[in-house]
Amino acid sequence: MPNTVIMGAQWGDEGKGKVIDIYSADADYVVRYQGGNNAGHTVVIGKDEFILHLIPSGILHKGVICVIGNGVVVDPKALLDEIKMLESKGIRVGKRLLISDRAHVILPYHRRIDELREQAKKKIGTTKRGIGPAYSDKISRLGIRMVDLLEKDTFAEKLRANLDEKNPILEKIYGTEGFSFDELHAEYSAYAGEIRKYVCDTAVILNEAIKKKKRVLFEGAQGTLLGVDYGTFPFVTSSNATAGGAATGTGVGPSRIDKVLGVVKAYTTRVGEGPFPTEFSPDLMDAIRKKGKEFGATTGRPRRCGWFDSVIVRYSVMVNGIDGIIVTKLDVLDDLDSIKICAGYRFGGKVYRDFPSSIDVLNRCVPVYEEVPGWRKDTTAVTSHSGLPANARGYLKRIEALVGTKIVLVSVGSDRKQTFRKGV
Ligand code: GDP
Ligand code: IMO
Ligand code: MG
Repeated sequence: MPNTVIMGAQWGDEGKGKVIDIYSADADYVVRYQGGNNAGHTVVIGKDEFILHLIPSGILHKGVICVIGNGVVVDPKALLDEIKMLESKGIRVGKRLLISDRAHVILPYHRRIDELREQAKKKIGTTKRGIGPAYSDKISRLGIRMVDLLEKDTFAEKLRANLDEKNPILEKIYGTEGFSFDELHAEYSAYAGEIRKYVCDTAVILNEAIKKKKRVLFEGAQGTLLGVDYGTFPFVTSSNATAGGAATGTGVGPSRIDKVLGVVKAYTTRVGEGPFPTEFSPDLMDAIRKKGKEFGATTGRPRRCGWFDSVIVRYSVMVNGIDGIIVTKLDVLDDLDSIKICAGYRFGGKVYRDFPSSIDVLNRCVPVYEEVPGWRKDTTAVTSHSGLPANARGYLKRIEALVGTKIVLVSVGSDRKQTFRKGV
């Protein structure tokens, strides 16, 4: 298996966790490169369901080393809770977890600011995990990195400087309480003690591994349309959820990455605010949400659902350099008589085939749909492409034609086993 990026090509929750778990069987390293515990990646193995927020989804394979790269923002408490959760289910983390010394730390004031901003009328609908404020501090060069957290004096100095700035904002602008230096310092110094053993220069380790022909999987979080550059800004997360983030977020150069695979749902979902041209009307929304169990793996919020949108996926294929797509949740469409696929957006007498940057256009455009017949058969036990009903094959074929790339894997249920290869 070449070094491969597996990332979301829609608005997140495409089933990346399941797909990463499958590809991890042939990997030596699995690396998260952006985002934080806003992610919720589900892996189902028989009766066991694991929801991973920070630790790469390769952790369920014994021989795999899991890396949290420099591009990730790490909430130490969430991380330690996740390690405990895994160990309580018999998954040994131990030396299989490495965390970049350059990854930035999420502190309680980041979460508080995230929550307070979300009380505004024009909210983003964030996960309130402090992601945006932590990345803001990174970019404005105030952030505290893992290496800083581990150095006693550096941590104290940086924490003090941050509180000198954040406390007046919390008190004067938001009219709430600030944080006590002593309490935060004591709590986070204790976390540092527990985390120290995992922290190292992961860029060196990954590059050495690649030289030795080890296989590395890069696990994207969120999805292209939630990425800060190519997403529906400002209704996005604060990191580069595109394949390019895999290089900056790990210290592995683009020339060392061989392949990019995009994960897409057979329909579309998004959580939080922001434009969604193909969003269903209430009846279909309820039916698909129920059948697809479309509730957030991190916040439990109901996900908004809609038809497959080839405009966004085709755009994702382009900006990520996607070599092949993986279609998940095909089974969720099993009961439909007919299925729509969005082929373009109509706005102001023009049909857009490339994803527009204007939120106004996205809010007011009318999707141009093609309609294909449904298959009305249970596909959850299908184990090969040829075993799919003809109309399901027809639907996948139309998706390939519209997005301009091949489907390499199809998923028809949440379990590892409910997956089959298609084509190469
Ligand atoms: P991620 O964030 O991309 O890893 O996706 P999530 O885990 O947030 O959401 C995907 C959900 O769909 C999870 O509950 C998975 O167990 C489930 N899932 C994944 N693939 C399939 C599939 O092919 N069919 C069905 N019915 N569920 C799936
Ligand atoms: P995975 O990796 C779906 C969404 C939030 C909100 C926006 C910004 O499981 O696919 P943030 O807390 O990041 O500042 O929120 O991004 N969001 C996700 N939606 N899947 C995710 O991750 C998401 N992570 C963030 O709902 O709209
Ligand atoms: Mg998710």
